Amino acid sequence: MELIKTRRSIRKYKETPVPDDYTVKILEAGRWAPSGEDAQPWRFIVIKDRKKIETLGKLAGAGSARRFRAEFLTRKLFDRLPIPDEEKRKRVYRKLITGEVSLFMKDAPLLIVVVGRRDCWDAVYDVSAAIQNILLQVHAMGLGACWLVAPVIDVRDEMKVKELLKIPEEYTVDAILAVGYPAESPKPRPRLPLSEIVFYEEFGEKWPILLEKTS
Ligand SMILES: Cc1cc2nc3c(=O)[nH]c(=O)nc-3n(C[C@H](O)[C@H](O)[C@H](O)COP(=O)(O)O)c2cc1C
Repeated sequence: MELIKTRRSIRKYKETPVPDDYTVKILEAGRWAPSGEDAQPWRFIVIKDRKKIETLGKLAGAGSARRFRAEFLTRKLFDRLPIPDEEKRKRVYRKLITGEVSLFMKDAPLLIVVVGRRDCWDAVYDVSAAIQNILLQVHAMGLGACWLVAPVIDVRDEMKVKELLKIPEEYTVDAILAVGYPAESPKPRPRLPLSEIVFYEEFGEKWPILLEKTS
């Protein structure tokens, strides 16, 4: 529980490279995830080449910029992320709209590109389970990581990643994990209390035992 609760998304890294034997252990954790029908549809591409990391990082920045700019222009961002304080709102929105929010990926010493076989029913769930195993193993080893979809959420960017890394048509690029030694210690992002997310016997019914504990 301590490992789970102290894991954070890390977006600033020291320049120290991640030793290869650590990377192997991290991927070993991914390999042991459960998968629908035991299909094991995940494939992992280890990227250490600085030029490739830079290219992928820029794609991540551009992907976020496109997505948040669209939300800003259609005013959805104001509904989804209302920030009453004007100065803070400008600061946060600028970071989102410029794509700076995901550009940090270009400075990671290591990327793990996670792809899934298209022909497996439950591939996205399987791949997600593998990623969570990886994130916990990363944290257990004193490293930090961030799970990113920004560079692949747009199919046009996914195509670019596939071309760059020679990923065959039968695979989807589901995520890129940026990994490195943490150069920041972010505060935990607040989680919804159990009393708000757990129901008893039917949806919407509070479970009194949780109300007593958390209200
Ligand atoms: C499916 C998924 C996609 C994510 N994509 C991004 C991303 O593109 N860029 C990013 O900076 N963080 C991304 N994250 C990290 C989340 O922002 C982060 O997990 C969340 O804010 C909670 O913070 P924590 O991981 O430190 O607990 C993603 C996380 C998940 C699970």
